[in-house]
Amino acid sequence: MLRMWTLRRPGMKPADSHNNNNNNKKMIGIIMVVYQYVLLVCDFVHLVLLSAFLMLKSIWHFVSPPPLKVITGEVILVTGAGHGIGRELGLQFARLGARVVCLDINEANNKKTVTDISKEGGSAWGYKCDVSCKEDVHAVSNKIRKEVGEVTILVNNAGIMPCKPFLRHTPEEVINIFRINVFSHFWTVQEWLPSFMTAGRGHVVAVSSIAGLMATSNLVPYCSSKYAVRGLMDGLTEEMRYAGRNPNIKFTRVHPFIVDTGLAKKPRIRFPSFNPITTAEQCAAKIIEGVCREEEVVCIPTKDYYGHIIMQMLPRPVQKAFLDFMDTGVDEDTS
Ligand SMILES: NC(=O)c1ccc[n+]([C@@H]2O[C@H](COP(=O)([O-])OP(=O)(O)OC[C@H]3O[C@@H](n4cnc5c(N)ncnc54)[C@H](O)[C@@H]3O)[C@@H](O)[C@H]2O)c1
Repeated sequence: MLRMWTLRRPGMKPADSHNNNNNNKKMIGIIMVVYQYVLLVCDFVHLVLLSAFLMLKSIWHFVSPPPLKVITGEVILVTGAGHGIGRELGLQFARLGARVVCLDINEANNKKTVTDISKEGGSAWGYKCDVSCKEDVHAVSNKIRKEVGEVTILVNNAGIMPCKPFLRHTPEEVINIFRINVFSHFWTVQEWLPSFMTAGRGHVVAVSSIAGLMATSNLVPYCSSKYAVRGLMDGLTEEMRYAGRNPNIKFTRVHPFIVDTGLAKKPRIRFPSFNPITTAEQCAAKIIEGVCREEEVVCIPTKDYYGHIIMQMLPRPVQKAFLDFMDTGVDEDTS
């Protein structure tokens, strides 16, 4: 049809032909605009229907959670497995039949976790590794590939939490916090993500903190590092799901409130029965449940997730008044 408009009929003057060309261009322009609007409306209707479906599905999953993913036989690497939450994760993953690879800078503690897993009849391997050091992570990962095989679930748990006012942190301490709490995640993910992509499946878990959702005093570098972990995990989630490239690589970020591992030396909690300190066992069990449900965000306790969302919707002065009322955080560690 467009070609017919451009035909110059016999006897037609060049000026008429020029006008015809202009008319054709205008017509094409109008068709393009109409096409864009039709596309927009169709896509929008699709979005509304899809959102309604996903909303109902989420409500259904909330009421009746889907069955837990089976992790028997998975090769699960846990950093900071020598103590606290990492040790408990190692023990509990092994009880579910996973093959656990324990990494820690503290060799003696790490060995103890491996021995305890073996005593219970589980499979575990231990490697001394400073996860903040890229070269160390690379060398240990190569050993793991040879001696255990490809990791299928990576749990970045190792972390430190120096607790004092902002101006008392030396530049070296700040850098160290970021090296252990943030950069280590980059080195391990860069090491194992390629094999996840080749296999078309895998799971990255990052243990952040409630301080990675709500900042608090005496922990400025720590909070910053945990907020950074959130950026890393959310960015990776988007990158892997973009255009459906790697839908079976899962990401879970975990935000625990205070856990009784000794990391938080001086917790300050005004209402302990409302904000209880969890044990490392309880925390690890919640993390594993979240991993097995392939949840993207796990808050421990769960109510903190909703508390955080509600807080974000409040005006800042109200948020501050609420924080003052709760009076919860950590006091400076002077030891
Ligand atoms: N305990 C809490 O109250 C709490 C609350 C929220 C989040 N978290 C987070 O949970 C994670 C684990 O905390 P935890 O309480 O079990 O701590 P933890 O101190 O009990 O254990 C941490 C382990 O990480 C290891 N580690 C430290 N630096 C390392 C390095 N460079 N390379 C390898 N291993 C290293 C330590 O040796 C230790 O075994 C941390 O990321 C922490 O920020 C803890």
